[in-house]
Amino acid sequence: MNANTHIAKAMEIHLGKLFAELPPRPEFAQGIRRAPARHFNLSRKDTELALKNALRYIPEKWHETLAPEFLEELMTRGRIYGYRFRPPGAITGRSIDEYQGQCIEGRAFQVMIDNNLDFEVALYPYELVTYGETGQVCQNWMQYRLIKRYLEVLTREQTLVMASGHPVGLFASRPEAPRVIITNALMVGCFDDQDNWHRAMALGVANYGQMTAGGWMYIGPQGIVHGTYSTILNAGRAKLGIPADQDLAGRLFVTSGLGGMSGAQGKAVVIANGVGIIAEVDYSRIQTRFDQGWIDQVTESPAEAFAAAREYQRNRKGWAIAFYGNVVDLLEYAVHHDVKIDLLSDQTSCHAVYEGGYCPQGISFEQRTELLRSGHAGFKEMVDATLRHHYELIKTLSDRGTYFFDYGNSFLKAVYDAGIRDICKNGENPLDGFIFQSYVEDIMGPLLFDYGYGPFRWVCLSGRNDDLAKTDRAAMECIDPERRFQDRDNYNWIRDAFKNRLVVGTRARILYQDALGRMKTALKFNEMVRTGEIGPVMLGRDHHDTGGTDSPFRETANIYDGSNIMADMATHCFAGNAARGMSLVALHNGGGVGIGKAINGGFGLVLDGSEQVDEIIRRAIPWDVMGGVARRAWARNEPSIETCIQYNELRKGSDHITLPYLADERLIGNLVEKAFAKHK
Ligand SMILES: NC(=O)c1ccc[n+]([C@@H]2O[C@H](COP(=O)([O-])OP(=O)(O)OC[C@H]3O[C@@H](n4cnc5c(N)ncnc54)[C@H](O)[C@@H]3O)[C@@H](O)[C@H]2O)c1
Repeated sequence: MNANTHIAKAMEIHLGKLFAELPPRPEFAQGIRRAPARHFNLSRKDTELALKNALRYIPEKWHETLAPEFLEELMTRGRIYGYRFRPPGAITGRSIDEYQGQCIEGRAFQVMIDNNLDFEVALYPYELVTYGETGQVCQNWMQYRLIKRYLEVLTREQTLVMASGHPVGLFASRPEAPRVIITNALMVGCFDDQDNWHRAMALGVANYGQMTAGGWMYIGPQGIVHGTYSTILNAGRAKLGIPADQDLAGRLFVTSGLGGMSGAQGKAVVIANGVGIIAEVDYSRIQTRFDQGWIDQVTESPAEAFAAAREYQRNRKGWAIAFYGNVVDLLEYAVHHDVKIDLLSDQTSCHAVYEGGYCPQGISFEQRTELLRSGHAGFKEMVDATLRHHYELIKTLSDRGTYFFDYGNSFLKAVYDAGIRDICKNGENPLDGFIFQSYVEDIMGPLLFDYGYGPFRWVCLSGRNDDLAKTDRAAMECIDPERRFQDRDNYNWIRDAFKNRLVVGTRARILYQDALGRMKTALKFNEMVRTGEIGPVMLGRDHHDTGGTDSPFRETANIYDGSNIMADMATHCFAGNAARGMSLVALHNGGGVGIGKAINGGFGLVLDGSEQVDEIIRRAIPWDVMGGVARRAWARNEPSIETCIQYNELRKGSDHITLPYLADERLIGNLVEKAFAKHK
């Protein structure tokens, strides 16, 4: 067997080099949310394996001290986080100039990682969870330390390989290649399920990257405000008959969740000028959104919440009301008192429904945390019972005229898993979809993704407000508000973005744009970097987009040619972005809907003002979006076919998309009917 001294000598980068002495046991700041204990159910043999796995990062001289400490973390928290290696105090995404590095990309990624772990940004910063209950930057603080060091020494001749939070190492590549390639939780098909994933996480071999947490591109809840604003505004237009040039004045939107992404709902409804009631069981999350100004009023009873809503609806004034309590209690009240709700959704973390993402009715948030720690089996029963009741209430409200949509949190799937078969269109299984549409099927898909509109985003790496204001103005100039109503909404969004005080963490912005709109904006920004008007910029996008994500319960819910169960598109998007030289590429399993239910990917591109980056923008940004539009066109989605026809014309000689011939429905219907009749 190799001796550890021998192994240590073979590495330039390891914790023994970074720390002369074992760092002291950490102190945890008061008032910072902590991840609930994840249920510990490893066998004795697996527990030994998990310990040995974590100790792979630790020089032998510290094994005796750390082995019992890691065991305690594992048995009490369900994971080994290696708290001792967390830098003490607050972590925050600072200006890029304050980071060490051999290349601009290495320094830029450090800004992004630290922003993902900021107390203000992250959901459970001590446990490296950025958002979505379980979405982590990496698994533990040992990995964090090593990643940071690797990024400091990374050169333009190398690529850092990241496998589920573990930095595999630096490998020689070339300046035009990505500087970091990330994968998270990619499990082999037959093991790609909850139980194996839970075990793999506890063993320390898998990281739940969610979407942008593990891809280091999370920019706080602003990222989702724009999508939520577009969704509810367009839901109003599509389902409540509101004209395309008007907003949600006088309308009531009821939902739940004020967490990482769901926390955007209050702000979004006010920007759309509607009234929102958002149920939340965790008071600390209400407090965060209230302090931030994204919630206008906090109420403690359904009666108080609906009374306040009525007043603001009457005055046609945008207003965000938090209801401190369970969403099921809120809906029960609405059903019993015949309250008219226009739009209804839910944003509890149903992708992790039994891991704390969904609080059962009848218990407090604190009691659910305690139950999670101690009584997992009983807890599941309670969750299922609440989900079934929740479903019945929604059905009643929907029968009375409320428009309900699934918000991409796997709510409908969770209800199905809780035993409700009626929720399936075919009354048996989700293969033909659910009786309620998801927001992508009804709204985001046909109105935005099919055209290529998606959540383009950027971070001003200088950290200067001024840079953000300049990029906002430049992005606005790249939009023609007269082209389509989507462009007008996007134009209005970016025009008012600064005023709406959307930034939490780094100076970042999100803007829905189509393929060529994104390219134009990116080229403009790179030029501004080149001329010194602004500092360097990190471009990226949410994975929740046209092309990056295969997710039949969400992003690809409006794919109806049977290919919604395939993950070729997301994989190609990832590979194609790597081939075209994005600075960072990421591919994950799971995301917002849960393990095994989606493959999603994203990118990061550092704008350094160079002409080489101009070239990458021209090749990679249209690909990143149009790969998705092409797939949607092939699935016969009308707006995508139209978009691809225009694209083929515009990019003649460089790009060419295969388009589908459309079969006559009657021809096919009659033919198959006759054939089946004969067959019988
Ligand atoms: N809207 C979108 O576009 C979109 C995009 C991505 C993901 N999602 C999904 O939305 C969900 C929420 O994401 P998040 O980042 O906000 O997660 P989160 O875990 O940070 O927030 C969910 C919140 O719901 C609260 N909650 C749980 N059960 C409740 C109950 N019964 N009543 C009232 N409140 C309850 C929790 O306390 C928590 O604060 C996830 O499943 C996520 O994947 C939505």
